Amino acid sequence: MTWSNRARPRRSTAWLPLVPFAALLACVKIFPPLDAPVLDAELVQRGQKMFQDPSLSGDRSRACNTCHPGGASDGNVYRDGEPVRAGDAGARRPPQLRGAWQSAPYLWDGSAGSVDEALERMLRVEMRGAAVRPEDREALAAYVLSIPPFDSGRIQPDGSPVEPSTPGASRGWAVFRDNCTLCHRPPSFTIGLRFDVGTGGKLSSPSLRGLSQSRGPYGHDGRWASLEDAVKAMVENRELALGEHDIASLVEYLRLL
Ligand code: HEC
Ligand code: HEC
Repeated sequence: MTWSNRARPRRSTAWLPLVPFAALLACVKIFPPLDAPVLDAELVQRGQKMFQDPSLSGDRSRACNTCHPGGASDGNVYRDGEPVRAGDAGARRPPQLRGAWQSAPYLWDGSAGSVDEALERMLRVEMRGAAVRPEDREALAAYVLSIPPFDSGRIQPDGSPVEPSTPGASRGWAVFRDNCTLCHRPPSFTIGLRFDVGTGGKLSSPSLRGLSQSRGPYGHDGRWASLEDAVKAMVENRELALGEHDIASLVEYLRLL
C-alpha cells in the first residue's frame, strides 16, 4: 500500500480558535509590560547596597554603580570591562538600567532573556569574577528590576509632548510617531525585538527614555558623539525622506524624553 491510495484523514480545524490566543502570547513577549513587577522590598534594598559596593567585584576595583550610576550610563565605553575608545571594535556602552523591567531582551545583542542571565555576564566579566551567592544574585536582579523608567514629566504615556510644548518638539513628535515607533514604542520607547540598523548586526532597540539626561556617546559602541549624529544615522538607515528641519525637530523632541 502506498501513501497516495490511503484515505486521508480529514484535516482538523479544532486549533483555529487558538490562533488569537497564540498571537496574544507573541505580543506579550514583544510589547514591553506596562506594569512594574511586584518585588520583595527587603530583597530590593539588599540588592541596592550590593549595587554600590566595590568590594563585590573580584579585584575590588568597581561597583555596578561605577558603569551604571544611579541606573544611568556613565558615558564611557568598555570592552570586557576595560575602558576603550568609542567606536572601537567590540566596544559596548553600558545600557541604562532605568526601566529594565520593560526592556527585555538584555545585552546589546539580546542574548540574555532575563536580567538574571545578563548578571551572569556582568559578574563574570565586567565585575572581574565577583563571587556572589545565588540569594545575593537574586537581590541584585530584584534591585535592577525595581529601578523606575526615567520620567522627565514632559511627555504623555502615548509619547506626545505635555502641552504647552514648542512647535519644534510637536513637529518632532509627529515625525517620530510616523517613522520611529515601530522599534521605539511609547511609553517604554523600546520593543522586545532586535534589528539590524546598519551598525554591525542585529541589536536590541534601546529605550530612548532619559535621552534628556544623556551627554552621550550614543549607540551600542558609542559610535555617535551627538544625538544629531544618532538621528541622522537612523534616518539614513531607514531611507526616510526627511530633511534637516525634520531632523532638528526629532532631536528637539528626543530631548524631552
Ligand atoms: C565595567 C563596567 C560595568 C560594570 C562594573 C557593570 N556593568 Fe552592567 N553593563 C555594562 C556594559 C558595557 C553592558 C552591555 C554589555 C553588552 O551588551 O554586551 C552592561 C549591561 C548590563 C545589563 C543589561 C541591560 C540591558 O538593558 O541590556 C544589566 C542588567 C547590567 N549590566 C547590570 C549590572 C549589574 C547589576 C552590575 C553589578 C553586578 C553591573 N551591570 C556591572 C557595563 C558594566
Ligand atoms: C527598525 C527598527 C528601528 C527604527 C525604525 C528606528 N530605530 Fe532607532 N535604534 C534601533 C536600534 C536597533 C538601535 C541601536 C543601534 C546601535 O546601538 O548600534 C537604535 C538606536 C537609536 C538611538 C541611539 C540611542 C542610544 O541610547 O544610544 C537613537 C537616538 C534612535 N535610535 C532614534 C531613532 C529615531 C529618531 C528613529 C526614527 C527616525 C529611529 N530611531 C528608528 C532601531 C530602530
